[in-house]
Amino acid sequence: MLKGKNVLLAVTGSIAAYKSAFLVRELIKKGSNVKVILTESSLQFVTPITLSTLSKNPVYKDFIKDQETGEWNNHVALGEWADLFLIAPATAHTISNLVTGKADSFFLATFLSNNSPVFVAPAMDLDMYKNTSTQENLATLQSRGIHIIDPDEGELASGLEGKGRMKEPEDIVSFLHQYLWSKATLRGKKVLISAGPTYEYIDPVRFIGNHSSGKMGYALAEEALKRGAEVTLVSGPVSITCSNEIKRINILSAEEMKKAIYKEFDQTDVLIMTAAVADYKPKVVANQKIKKGGEELKLELVKTDDILKSISTKKKNQFVVGFALETNDEKTNAKEKLVNKNLDVIVLNSLNDKGAGFGHDTNKVTIITKNDEQEYDLKSKIEVASDILNLIEKSI
Ligand SMILES: Cc1cc2nc3c(=O)[nH]c(=O)nc-3n(C[C@H](O)[C@H](O)[C@H](O)COP(=O)(O)O)c2cc1C
Repeated sequence: MLKGKNVLLAVTGSIAAYKSAFLVRELIKKGSNVKVILTESSLQFVTPITLSTLSKNPVYKDFIKDQETGEWNNHVALGEWADLFLIAPATAHTISNLVTGKADSFFLATFLSNNSPVFVAPAMDLDMYKNTSTQENLATLQSRGIHIIDPDEGELASGLEGKGRMKEPEDIVSFLHQYLWSKATLRGKKVLISAGPTYEYIDPVRFIGNHSSGKMGYALAEEALKRGAEVTLVSGPVSITCSNEIKRINILSAEEMKKAIYKEFDQTDVLIMTAAVADYKPKVVANQKIKKGGEELKLELVKTDDILKSISTKKKNQFVVGFALETNDEKTNAKEKLVNKNLDVIVLNSLNDKGAGFGHDTNKVTIITKNDEQEYDLKSKIEVASDILNLIEKSI
C-alpha cells in the first residue's frame, strides 16, 4: 500500500530520533518516496547526512537554503508533495506547537500548509506523556483528525519504566499500511488485466507480432494494486516488470491469452483488456525453420478468436473494459465495438494523436460508456490508469 506514496517525515528532538533512520529505511523498502524535515533540536540526536543518504533526498531544516542567492525551501510545495505526513518521534514541545498553530520554523510552517493525513508518534518520558497538557494536546490533535500512534510501555531513556516509548519503526510502517488499506477503494475486488502484444508463430524462429509495449496495462495493474485490488495480469512478451503482489501469467499467442483469460474470468469483478491481440495467425506453423527459396513466399492467415467479444457472452456481474486503437473514424468505430462486444466501457486512443498509443509513456484517451463520452488531455499512462479506475470505481 505504501509503494509510490510520498511520505514526509518530520523528526523532532527526542532520544528516539535515532530510530528515524530505521523508519526511513523501512519506508524506502516498501517503495515509498521519503523526504525528511529536521527540527533544530533534532540535530542534537541525528545528522542530516544519515537521513539524506537513507531517504535519497536532501533533508529540510530552514526556510533559507542559500543566504547569498536568496534561494529558499518552499514549505507550501513540500506540504503539497506529501501523501502522508508523519511526525516521528514527536516531542511534547512539538505536540504543543501543533495544537497552537505556531509557525516559527520550516517544519511548523510545512505542517500548517499540508493537507495530507498527519500521523503523530509521541516519544517522551512517562510523566511528560501523562502530564495533563500533553494528554489534552493529543486529544485536541485527535479531535482535528490527526492520527496518534500510541507509544508503547517499557524501559525509557531516563531509566524509568512506563508508557512513552515511541512505537518501533516496523509498527509505525504497519500503522500507515493499515490506514491506507482502510481507505483502499478497490479492496476485495478482483481485477483481471491483459497487456502487451501476442506473437503468432510462422515457424520455430519467426512470428507475427506488434509494437505494443504493455505500458498501459501494467500502469493499470499497478494502480489497481495500489487501490487494494487483487490483480491478475495476463501479459504478452514485454520488457517491463511488475510488483510481486501482482499475479502475472505470461503468454505468447492469442490462443494462450484466451485460455488464461477464460480460466480467470469467473472469479473476476473487473476485466480490462489492453492487450494488442493479433487478429490473424498463420494457418499452419512450420515445424522447421522455413528455408529461403523463391522470390515470393505466401503465408495463409486465419482469424484468431475475438477474446473480448466471446468473453462478454459469459458475463455475469463482471464489468468489462476494452481498448480500441483506431486510425480513422475513431469514435464511430469505438462506439460500434462497445455495442458489438457488449462492453461497459471502451477506451479509445487514436494513432493520430501525438504521444498516444504504442510505446509512449503518455496516452491521450477518450473514455466512452453507453451514455457518455469524455475526452482527456495527453497524460502519463499512470495518470490515464487513474482516470480509468476512477470511472470504474464509480460504476461497480
Ligand atoms: C537527551 C535529551 C533527550 C530528550 N528526549 C526527549 C523526548 O524523548 N521527548 C520529548 O518530548 N522531549 C525530549 N527532550 C526535550 C526536547 O529536546 C526539547 O523539548 C526540545 O525543545 C524539543 O524541540 P522540538 O520538538 O522542536 O524538536 C530531550 C532532551 C534531551 C537533552
